[in-house]
Amino acid sequence: MPFSKHGYPRPLVLKSGQEVWLRPIDPAIDEDPLFSFLAGLNNDDRWYLDFDAKDPETVRSCFVHYKASELLPIVATDREGQVVGLGTLGRSHPGARGHIGRVRVVVARSFRSQRLGTYILLDLIQLAVNLGLRVLTAEFIRGIENPAIRAARRLDFFEQAVLPEFAKDPRENRYDLVIMVKRIHRGYDDF
Ligand SMILES: CC(C)(COP(=O)(O)OP(=O)(O)OC[C@H]1O[C@@H](n2cnc3c(N)ncnc32)[C@H](O)[C@@H]1OP(=O)(O)O)[C@@H](O)C(=O)NCCC(=O)NCCS
Repeated sequence: MPFSKHGYPRPLVLKSGQEVWLRPIDPAIDEDPLFSFLAGLNNDDRWYLDFDAKDPETVRSCFVHYKASELLPIVATDREGQVVGLGTLGRSHPGARGHIGRVRVVVARSFRSQRLGTYILLDLIQLAVNLGLRVLTAEFIRGIENPAIRAARRLDFFEQAVLPEFAKDPRENRYDLVIMVKRIHRGYDDF
């Protein structure tokens, strides 16, 4: 399992002083808390996710019974074990893109602006380092996911490409898709 030397669960203290724990999804206990978390997002949040959070089969197969060689889902949980954040590290089979990881983060509305998003992204970077990945990519919708762009920029993701008017909101307005890249240099693992 790719998490062995990662030291989960990892305790965190948010700006609010609240404690949360980061760890990989545990299929034995996390299905209901994950569904509650996704149900707690509003329609706008779900619209911009890159998966159908309302499709139980998608959520079960991608996140609960995840295939570690394709996607590593990390959850942030509060003291009661409720899921309050989800980060994913997507990866490809060993090949031309085998050294590249894709990151995404979503945080419960009531837990935003307390650094949790940044901490989850930081944890995905550390996991990527431990897995020997060399490049991380993240896609953001400019004008909608600006907090994520800020968090990524702060962690040395750089804007490498923009797809103009690529994504749309529920009212058919178009937005640019920003592709940000972080290079993980050798010897980075003394993080
Ligand atoms: C993006 C997201 C994960 C950030 O989580 P968070 O816990 O609120 O983030 P943080 O508290 O670590 O803040 C990250 C940055 O965004 C800024 N920020 C947070 N909320 C903000 C808001 N509502 N408006 C503007 N900036 C905001 C913070 O100031 C911080 O910037 P800084 O590092 O320059 O100070 C969260 O907003 C979210 O889940 N959004 C919906 C899903 C999404 O957009 N995902 C991104 C695609 S991967």
